Amino acid sequence: MIELDAPPVSVTGKLTQLVGLAERYAAPEHAVTNGGHVRTIAAGHYTVTGLSRHVRLGEFVAHRSATGIHLGEVVRVEPDAAYVCPIEPGEPIGIHDVVIRKGAFRIAPNESWCGRTINALGEPIDGRGPLAPGDVRRSISASAPPSMARRRVDEGFRTGVRAIDIFSPLCLGQRLGIFAGSGVGKSTLLSMLARADAFDRVVIALVGERGREVREFIEDTLADNMSKSIAVVATSDESPMLRKMAPLSAMTIAEHFRDKGENVLFIADSITRFAHAIREVAMAAGEPPVARGYPASVFTELPRLLERAGPGEEGQGTITAIISILVDGDNHNDPIADSTRGILDGHIVLDRSLAEEGRYPPINPLASISRMARKAWTPEQEKLVSRLKTLIHRFEETRDLRLIGGYRTGSDPDLDMAIKQVPVVYEVLKQLPSERPTADAYADLANALKSAAGGQPVAAKPRG
Ligand SMILES: Nc1ncnc2c1ncn2[C@@H]1O[C@H](COP(=O)(O)OP(=O)(O)OP(=O)(O)O)[C@@H](O)[C@H]1O
Ligand SMILES: [Mg+2]
Repeated sequence: MIELDAPPVSVTGKLTQLVGLAERYAAPEHAVTNGGHVRTIAAGHYTVTGLSRHVRLGEFVAHRSATGIHLGEVVRVEPDAAYVCPIEPGEPIGIHDVVIRKGAFRIAPNESWCGRTINALGEPIDGRGPLAPGDVRRSISASAPPSMARRRVDEGFRTGVRAIDIFSPLCLGQRLGIFAGSGVGKSTLLSMLARADAFDRVVIALVGERGREVREFIEDTLADNMSKSIAVVATSDESPMLRKMAPLSAMTIAEHFRDKGENVLFIADSITRFAHAIREVAMAAGEPPVARGYPASVFTELPRLLERAGPGEEGQGTITAIISILVDGDNHNDPIADSTRGILDGHIVLDRSLAEEGRYPPINPLASISRMARKAWTPEQEKLVSRLKTLIHRFEETRDLRLIGGYRTGSDPDLDMAIKQVPVVYEVLKQLPSERPTADAYADLANALKSAAGGQPVAAKPRG
């Protein structure tokens, strides 16, 4: 028997399909376009459903909570969940809170930011009112210019620090690392280098520093140069996300001025704390460690940041990067020191033993190298430095022998010259942070050697 009021089979099927679709799209993960909902919460990260198809690794999302909108970075994407690291620690996150995709994090640097101190998000923290945004919003994770389009690095400049200008002179667009254990003098040397007058702008990223040091650095070091400097600060008590973002934001500001044709000095203190922040974020997202506790992403992020420094394309300026690297337990071969040394165009090594002797800045001239030095030296200066290094090496290797009285003056003319001249060189290299930058380090050295030789011409010349 046919039931007249029963709907035909095809219509029932269609209705069932429609109800199914309606139910699926009413589910929380489809309720927001390009958005999703918090599914699980853990210390250091939370997961979001409904976003996996829309977001890319490294993009930012906005999480709406009872206290407002909070940003987070996508640190891992799985088919059914995106892992997000919140920027601010301790933000109230609830299951099913709405999370919306924001894309790359951007800042709009402006000339009027000079003289100001900002946080990693590009917000002012100096209590001097809001910052005017520039015309162009730039992603803080931009790529480096293509290598073949970049100008060459060949213009030397004076830093004003004698030990560097004599033994490891630098060029505009060079990337230099200062390697030392804790408390040896990295920050002090950086503050001396920040005063070099070869630059139109100075951008400083202070990462993981103590709050007390930040104010000292900015007020004492940048005092004269403040009008051309911008400081980006994430102190040690801030979240790993902010510590990770601070050098990226600082580099983005440096790129803004480089694109205008200016020569920019980028200083980061310290890059090791940047690496620690990346490690904390990556570990929270479940990335396994590969080298002494560091996950693989640390070793991709470091070159990504440092490659952005250097010369720009034709018509653009340069970014000279000087960064400090804390070598754990004075071990210069720890994974961060090792990998950054390979990326950089030079390294300055600070020795604890020199600091203990009171020989500040404690730069070891034999262990420090500037790969661009040849382009900054004249042929005579290069010869003189090579000769001085030989004398210093002779002087140091015979130190113990001489101390126990095992050397008789006159047996080795080279060593006799080293004994006479190296202490004079060491004296010239000493420099207090309060001293004015030196205009001509070679002239200072020549004068000191001359007066030590009783007014005779400088003897530290190659023989024969
Ligand atoms: N050029 C210098 N002249 C005199 N003293 C110096 C000089 N450089 C460093 N010092 C001394 O060394 C101390 C430590 O220096 P600094 O804070 O720069 O070290 P650091 O390597 O940055 O330390 P940390 O690893 O803790 O950041 C300073 O407080 C100062 O007393
Ligand atoms: Mg320091």
